[in-house]
Amino acid sequence: MNGYGKLLNGVQVLVVGGQQFGDEGKGKYADVFAQQADVIARCQGGANSGHTINANGKTLVTHLVPSGILYDQHGKINILGSGMAIDPRVLILELEALEKEGISFNHLIISLNAKLTLPQHIALDKIADELKKGDPAKGRIGTTGRGIGPTYTGHYARDGLRVNDMLNPDILKKRLALNLEDKIALLETYDPELVKKVMHHKDLSNGIYYDPKNIFNFDVIIEQYRGYGQRLKQFIRDTDAFVRKAKQDGKRLLLEGAQAYLLDIDMGTYPYVTSSNCSPSGIARGAGLDEKDIDLFLGVVKFPYMTRVGEGPFPTEFGGSKSAEWCGKDGITKEKEKLIYGEVSINDADGFNKGVAVRSAGNEYGATTGRPRRTGWLDLPLLRYAIEHNGPNVILTKIDVFDRCEEIKICVAYRYEGPHYNLGDIFLAHGTVLLTAVPEAEVLKYCQPIYESFPGWLCDTSQIRSFNNLPRLLKNIIGRVVKLSGMNPKIISVGADREQTIFV
Ligand code: IMP
Repeated sequence: MNGYGKLLNGVQVLVVGGQQFGDEGKGKYADVFAQQADVIARCQGGANSGHTINANGKTLVTHLVPSGILYDQHGKINILGSGMAIDPRVLILELEALEKEGISFNHLIISLNAKLTLPQHIALDKIADELKKGDPAKGRIGTTGRGIGPTYTGHYARDGLRVNDMLNPDILKKRLALNLEDKIALLETYDPELVKKVMHHKDLSNGIYYDPKNIFNFDVIIEQYRGYGQRLKQFIRDTDAFVRKAKQDGKRLLLEGAQAYLLDIDMGTYPYVTSSNCSPSGIARGAGLDEKDIDLFLGVVKFPYMTRVGEGPFPTEFGGSKSAEWCGKDGITKEKEKLIYGEVSINDADGFNKGVAVRSAGNEYGATTGRPRRTGWLDLPLLRYAIEHNGPNVILTKIDVFDRCEEIKICVAYRYEGPHYNLGDIFLAHGTVLLTAVPEAEVLKYCQPIYESFPGWLCDTSQIRSFNNLPRLLKNIIGRVVKLSGMNPKIISVGADREQTIFV
């Protein structure tokens, strides 16, 4: 039995999810575990996530289709679950790209109950973020602009639409009219030029939905979405029932999480979160199962650093607020950063420069938006918080990014340096030391990291394939983090290739 066989022995339902702020490298393991599964499901989130697939020597980025689509040719079922927010335009573009590359999707199924992203959701998402730019008091989230928040808001407000509505024109019209009413009223209060500009964004099909009088052209939305429905009809069905039956029939299921625990709408660093449940229970629910159905949850953790995209507290960020500001600016791309900063070193004494170097070494630029990801040291108060909720089994990724780093720091606790704060029955005074993070942005923004330092291992780990052969200094750091956080590493990843995997 190989390493995966041992790990998956007795496991029928496996969930792979992020334990930090997303982009931990879940895709590599979702791909590896898809090979072992019969059914692969995406369960929450939508086109806000980006996953890079390497096929036929080409690189494709999918936002909605699960990475298991590469195994469609082997009869594996890929599902877009009921917990997802689906923008059919993006989905159809992805299917066209797969078709072009000769990647089949004969066993793809899409939940009839998935939440439907409509033009008004994307417009509202983009405008809200735009209006909050440059004023910290307005609490800008820095969303991906894919309409995720407004789509889920509609669902909870009970005036949302679902994928199946595209197949029933009269219901589509009725529900669209209801859903649009308050959106139009709100958009009419905004600067018409801004509304017009956003409505012409490429994510809104370059203005086809824009009507100067009513903001939205109702008939064009109906026509487009009916067309999307016809295109997708063959894939749409009750996936929740399908998943439950597959489980009963003893099929092996891989549920792949999108975003990550610290971005979970309920458990994350509120309000700087996404709008779906990215926790194991939310992932299971989004596929039509319950938390109790999960046999193994593997939480992916970048090590010994982490990243965050968008706004929100990040206590260990290299370069602090300077980095946050830089990464939040429009138009900063990998190429532009390289042009301005050239070859900065991961050992730079300046935190900001170090952060740029880590970004470059780890290729930390968003697959969906191209935005630079903010970078910082591994934060144990946040990791402890995630492990307390989701269990200790983790996959440590991207270790090789730090192969040349002379000093490794791990944040082992926080010192709260903000004003007195009431946290339920607990009173947080200035100077309080916290071992476990509190998922509240108003607290986290005042948390100063307390670090432990370690000498770097300074050797190439990318060719190592056994835990024993890892450098002693690296094993020491992992051992110390195990002791301090309670994590239980199952796999260590030392590069992007599947083979660059070490079983612990
Ligand atoms: P939204 O999901 O587009 O509403 O964005 C909410 C927050 O979640 C923003 O800070 C985004 O940068 C972040 N976010 C959303 N999707 C991802 C992801 O796939 N990886 C990392 N961050 C994400």
